[in-house]
Amino acid sequence: MTQLSAPIPLVDTAVHHAPRDVRDHIALGFTKTLRFCADTFFAKRYGHRAIVLETVAAVPGMVGATINHLKCLRRMCGDNGWIRTLMEEAENERMHLMTFVEIAKPTLFERLVILGVQWVFYVAFFGLYLVSARTAHRIVGYFEEEAVISYTLYLQEIDEGRSPNVPAPEIARHYWKLADDATLRDVVLVVRADEAHHRDVNHGFADELAGLPMRTAIAPCPPHNELQPAWKQVA
Ligand SMILES: [Fe+2]
Ligand SMILES: [Fe+2]
Repeated sequence: MTQLSAPIPLVDTAVHHAPRDVRDHIALGFTKTLRFCADTFFAKRYGHRAIVLETVAAVPGMVGATINHLKCLRRMCGDNGWIRTLMEEAENERMHLMTFVEIAKPTLFERLVILGVQWVFYVAFFGLYLVSARTAHRIVGYFEEEAVISYTLYLQEIDEGRSPNVPAPEIARHYWKLADDATLRDVVLVVRADEAHHRDVNHGFADELAGLPMRTAIAPCPPHNELQPAWKQVA
């Protein structure tokens, strides 16, 4: 029997949190600098871009979860659901990575870049989160705004025939409950919806830490299946 795809939430691609103070400006400036580097390095190689950037995107959730977990242990207090949310974000980003390695294969140079960037980014983001969790979440919110734009451009590449619309990998069909005949286009749509969700969650956390009301509703997350044991073990 053919499996039917779960509905894919619509994404508002125009959401942008205008910076309100110097920390927000720093977060946005840092994000735009990294965007320029990524555009220069990858140009329109969206599959390769996704692989390298998803190895970075999966770091902040785990750092935030770790630091909040330790804080709650020290203060013996509740976490308001932050730790689980951040761990789910990290796992979700890792599934983006596991999906895109089925579609594009990283070059040796890209693997070396991933190694170097992970060392630097993990340590730097950990330090930043300790100093200003609010700025850290704002940076992630801006990263995710850029991710939504990048995946929208990837969709354009597919729709205009410059990237082949290959069948969706099995891991993606399982994780996002996609139909048996789902394609790369469907995968990019659900990944983009995930990124929009992360965008709003992280801007919301930054606002909460700043004592400000949230500016937008949180974009819905596409339904995810539990990971299969074999996939959980993949490094
Ligand atoms: Fe991602
Ligand atoms: Fe994301």
